[in-house]
Amino acid sequence: MNAQEVKNRISEDFHHFHSHPELSYQEFKTTEKIKEELQSQGIEILPLDLETGCVAQLGQGERCLALRCDIDALPVQEETSLAYKSQIKGVMHACGHDFHTATMLGTAFLLKECENQLKGRVRIVFQPAEEAPGGAKKILESGALNGVEAIYGIHTINDFKPGTLAIKEGATHAAVDRFSITFKGKGTHAAHPEQGIDTLVIASQFVNAAQTIVSRNSNPFDSNLLSITHFEAGNTWNVVPETAFLEGTIRTMNQACREMVKNRLVELAKGIAATFGASAEVQWIFGLPAMQNSKDLSDFARDLAKQDGFETAVPPSSLGGEDFALYEEQLPGAFVQIGTGPSLPNHNPRFTADEQALFPAAQFMAHLAKQYLAEFKK
Ligand code: NI
Repeated sequence: MNAQEVKNRISEDFHHFHSHPELSYQEFKTTEKIKEELQSQGIEILPLDLETGCVAQLGQGERCLALRCDIDALPVQEETSLAYKSQIKGVMHACGHDFHTATMLGTAFLLKECENQLKGRVRIVFQPAEEAPGGAKKILESGALNGVEAIYGIHTINDFKPGTLAIKEGATHAAVDRFSITFKGKGTHAAHPEQGIDTLVIASQFVNAAQTIVSRNSNPFDSNLLSITHFEAGNTWNVVPETAFLEGTIRTMNQACREMVKNRLVELAKGIAATFGASAEVQWIFGLPAMQNSKDLSDFARDLAKQDGFETAVPPSSLGGEDFALYEEQLPGAFVQIGTGPSLPNHNPRFTADEQALFPAAQFMAHLAKQYLAEFKK
């Protein structure tokens, strides 16, 4: 396919994926379509044990670079007026993963045209389930990244217009942890508080005290967040509740902060409970780690973006999570954010990604892969 053909083809693909969104782990038709597109150009698909998603490979040789996109949609009812809006009720590509998928198909098509000039192999990962936990883990467990020396990921970003690529080393997305706390006291008649231990009052004190962890215990230059989002205690007007339940999330950008916030939260819950003669049971669910983009890979992509005539920018950091961080725990990686704005925020029913950015993004990722294999020194 020549450049114009690739451009037209991935525009159609983007519209197709947008109008046929599928939720995490249900990307069966999406996977089928991706495979058809790859096979139509004779591109190798690795024989991996994946129910949804797939991995393509191009080129030959020792060195191997991975490129990753995600393919799943969200349980959002679309409210745009796009001609190619979602045909599936209550499901929408509201985070640009349709754009990512079409971009990476374009990258594969373009690399196919220069496959014999590649100084190594390029693996293109079409990852399922980024929005639900576990998609990146499935890819890692499948062995798709065995022998891969580095990985680049892509995502749309509404803060910038088409023609801009936003790249930053270090942490751009937060570690995402979740906790729940059950305070146990002693239930009693509302008119006889002296005979019980009131967990509603204790949990309320904890909610207030927990606000000091970020404001008083963490360095103001660090970006830490603690949100308590769920509080349940009691069910009627004349009973002091025996238990109170709280849950929420903490978001941190490095391991030291992650441990500090967790430790303080547990100390406060147990300490406050003990002060009142109650107990606190804390359950901790470690989620995604923080992203750690390699400086060398980020610099390499930024320099090439400038050479290719893109504006480059520094993306704002986000306390949202991104499971690309799981790859970066295993091998060096960097994230290229493609300006597709302006738009309403990601996950909004009127989110859109400007298609003008699509073909240039595919061209850039193909160029990046080719140049990486030819020039990047490990
Ligand atoms: Ni996303």
